[in-house]
Order: sequence, then structure tokens, then C-alpha cells
Amino acid sequence: MMELENKQLIKLPGLIDPHVHFRTPGWEYKENWKTAAKASIKGGYTTVFDMPNTIPPTVTEIALVEKKALIDKQLKEAGIPLRYYLYFGADKYHLNEIKKIKGQVIGIKVFMGCSTGGLVIDDDESLHAIFKIAAEENMLVAVHAEDEQRLKENAKKFEGPQPYSIHSKIRDESAAFLAVEKAIHLVRLYGTRLYILHVSTHQEIDLIAQAKKEGLPVFAETTPHHLFLNNLDYQNLQGKAVMNPPLRSPEHQMALFSGIKSGIIDTIGSDHAPHTLEEKAKAYGDCPSGVPGIETTLPLLFEAYHQNLLSLDNIVDLTSRRAKTIFNLADCPDDYVLVDLSLAKKVEDKLLSTKCQWSPFAGRLLRGWPVTTVLKGHMYDLNKL
Ligand code: DOR
Ligand code: ZN
Repeated sequence: MMELENKQLIKLPGLIDPHVHFRTPGWEYKENWKTAAKASIKGGYTTVFDMPNTIPPTVTEIALVEKKALIDKQLKEAGIPLRYYLYFGADKYHLNEIKKIKGQVIGIKVFMGCSTGGLVIDDDESLHAIFKIAAEENMLVAVHAEDEQRLKENAKKFEGPQPYSIHSKIRDESAAFLAVEKAIHLVRLYGTRLYILHVSTHQEIDLIAQAKKEGLPVFAETTPHHLFLNNLDYQNLQGKAVMNPPLRSPEHQMALFSGIKSGIIDTIGSDHAPHTLEEKAKAYGDCPSGVPGIETTLPLLFEAYHQNLLSLDNIVDLTSRRAKTIFNLADCPDDYVLVDLSLAKKVEDKLLSTKCQWSPFAGRLLRGWPVTTVLKGHMYDLNKL
């Protein structure tokens, strides 16, 4: 900690966001790498892992190569050489592509339940094949763990116009539990390295705790929205509270904090998934799932630090240290972020750099904001960015 001009500055390693949807190609009206790179730097992030649910989805080697070229072009235009890695999307019609892209991706993303973009693996045969190939090729599998069958059965119970809050009932805790249970079962069978995305329930934490106790290569991520919002927030946020997996009750939020404290939860992924305000204003059923988050994750974590909910060590673990271990990333001493622990600022939509220009945390007064981000030795003064 340094004291500088009355500021309480703390230096952290450049943040790694292991879960973003920067929308290139095909959905650049929601976000692109020019706006997203700026948003990343403003959030203190120097490295991101991008998801494959784009248009077209990243499920072939050709799509992957084309996506990289587009990203590089957009980053060049932004003048920000953000470090990035891409996930490859598992698709049952393109399983033979997986071996081709080994070494070019950070992992294989498997949607066990349908979400934005429609990629889904809903049959056991394909799931087994993916976990087996990944283990043989020493690739990591990252799962969106919601059981598709359970989601479909629940949806049938609630047909017709519904309030947004029904989302948490359709995509219930059992859907998450069933999918995580199945994924861990596949780890036991094949020895695949498994990264469970956006853990949101205590039931998942219990399963993951058991897997870790057995020494299985299972890792867990949670998100800022599951830590800092809950199902009471539908009231104010309406469609802005809709995401997959959905918001849970406050008891689950508490379990997530305990999961961080006990080391069961390894990382935080912003799951930055922008949609336009117009889209989010649509009625339930037409309102797309997802919220932006990369600019607010770190100040939310520091506010939790001020409230004695998290330690500085927890924050470093969540935002960089564990990701480096899980994904085998080298230390980047030229990447770091300076955070002003005492800077108190409200989240304001109009100050955000994400193209969608809104946050589910708008109006929150948070203490502890990044003020300088250094990427590859280049210093960005966040007051001027
Ligand atoms: O809420 C979500 N939004 N969950 C996902 O799985 C996908 C994401 C998106 O891409 O919008
Ligand atoms: Zn996601």
C-alpha cells in the first residue's frame, strides 16, 4: 500500500477476466473490441478470455481464425493491445474440429443448457465424446452448467406472459445442480480438467467442494452479479436482472462469499454480456439474457473489502492469481493496476465505455476504484481515458 497525494493506492497484478462476451463477430451493435478494450482497461483488466457464442459461433477452425483477425483489427483501431484468449465452442456437428484447434484456444466451452446464441450440447453421447477428447488432448473444458432437460420441463410449467422474476424459477437451482453433478461425473470417468463457469448456488459449491476434496481437477468461477445482486432485484431492474444462470436468493449470495473464503471458488468472471437497453426493455421471453460487468467488478470487490466481506488476498486470488494457475499463464510484470482504496464514486451509466451504456449496478456508491492501468508497460490514466 502506498500513500500518495492523500490517496491510498494499492498495486495489483493486471486483472484477468476469464469470461467475457465481446460480441465479435456478428453482434457488434451490442459491443465490439474497440469499446470493450477501453471498458477492460477502465476496469483494471489487461487480459480477457472471450466466449464462442457469436454469429457465426466459434465452432470451426475457420471461424476461429477469422474471429482472431477481426479482433486484432478492432484492437488496432482502439490502440489498446489488450491480451486475449479465445474459447472454442463445442458443437456436436463439429467435434472433429477440436483436435485441429488445440494450442490455439484457452479451452472448450460447453453450454449444457441453452443460452444466448443457441449453442447447446443436450445429449450424453456428445458430452462424453467432448470430455474424452479434451482429456486426451489435455485441453480444459469450461461448462455453462444448467441442465437443458430440466430447463425445458420447467419452462412448460410457465407458459404465456410472465414477470421477469419467473426466470429464476424456470432456470432453478436443480438445473445447475444436475449439470454440475453430471460434469463432475465425466471428470471422474475421463480425468478432464473442468472449469465451472458462473457458479451461483450453494448446491454447486457443495458438489465442487467434494470434487476438490477428492483431488479432481475441478475449478470454479463466480460472477459479480451473483455476488452482489439477488432475486429481490427484479423489482427495480426488471429485464436488466435477466441473465443465465439467473439471480438467486440472498442465502446463495452468502454461500458464494463463504465459498470464496474457503477457497472452493477460484475466480471471478464478469460474464460481461452486453445487450442494448432497447433489447433489455422487451417483455419476458423476448428480453435477452446477460449483463455488462467488466467496468464494475473490481470496485464491487473493493466495496466488499471495505465491508469486511473479502480480504485483499481473496481479491488477488479471484482476479488474477488462480486464473494464472488454472490456465497456465505466465506472470506479466508489465501489467498492473493501481487502485485508489479511498476513492468513493457512484456507478453511472453515462460514464461507462461499454457500447451498451448501462449497468445493473448504476447508482451504487462504491469505495475503491482503479485509477491507472498498465498494459505491456503502457500506462493508461483512467481519469483521462
Ligand atoms: O446471461 C447470459 N448471457 N448467459 C449466457 O450464458 C450468455 C450470455 C450472453 O452471451 O448474452
Ligand atoms: Zn457467459
